[in-house]
Amino acid sequence: MNVLANLKWIEAKSYEEMCKNAADIFKEQLKKDHATVFGMATGGTPEGFYKELVTAYKAGEISFAHAKSFNLDEYIGINPSNEASYHYYMDHNLFNHIDMNRENIHVPAGDTANLEKAAKEYDAEIEAAGNIDIQLLGIGVNGHIGFNEPGTPFTLGTNVVELTQSTREANKVYFDSIDDVPTHAITMGINTIMNSKKVVLLISGESKQEAFNRLRSGIITEDFPASALHNHPDVTVIYTGVK
Ligand code: PGA
Repeated sequence: MNVLANLKWIEAKSYEEMCKNAADIFKEQLKKDHATVFGMATGGTPEGFYKELVTAYKAGEISFAHAKSFNLDEYIGINPSNEASYHYYMDHNLFNHIDMNRENIHVPAGDTANLEKAAKEYDAEIEAAGNIDIQLLGIGVNGHIGFNEPGTPFTLGTNVVELTQSTREANKVYFDSIDDVPTHAITMGINTIMNSKKVVLLISGESKQEAFNRLRSGIITEDFPASALHNHPDVTVIYTGVK
């Protein structure tokens, strides 16, 4: 079996084109189903994608009034008001600018006393919403999706993870120093992600070349978390700046 056949690969000519292509898929989904359950991602890669969604909302092309969203992950020990938190990122890049009801917006709680309970409840909430219709993903230089680092069992639901040194290094630009980068995070598990009906994975820039090559190789291994996606029936990879 050619596992690559499961993934749909779209090469974009530029970062802007990648973001536009991805936003078009999300907009089409929302127009088809006003009550879409979105899975959202953070990081440098999707910033332009969120700009496209905000522009389309402001132009009256789409409305999120009946939609819901669940974010992939959040750092542990960081307050939502901290500019480096994913709560802050999402408000700043998307939620403050669109009409999604606040009660329909979900980002894992990284500042709660009982994280294990919060993780279980997060999966239960996603299930109660009917699972995610369309999940946006980025990819880590080490192949992580969400914060599922290499070695994560594919069977896990939302859980608490220790971040690898390479992930902390990659994300230190958002903090004053590497020492300020949290050591742990709460993340949707691979199983949570695999339960999404549709996945759009964005890969941008030469720092992701090795991750791109490993995904293209089609080899499925827990050492390379994104490879789980080869077992998913509906994944579109939109990439630019890698070959
Ligand atoms: P990036 O992060 O978009 O900032 O490269 C992606 C990820 O780590 O999943």
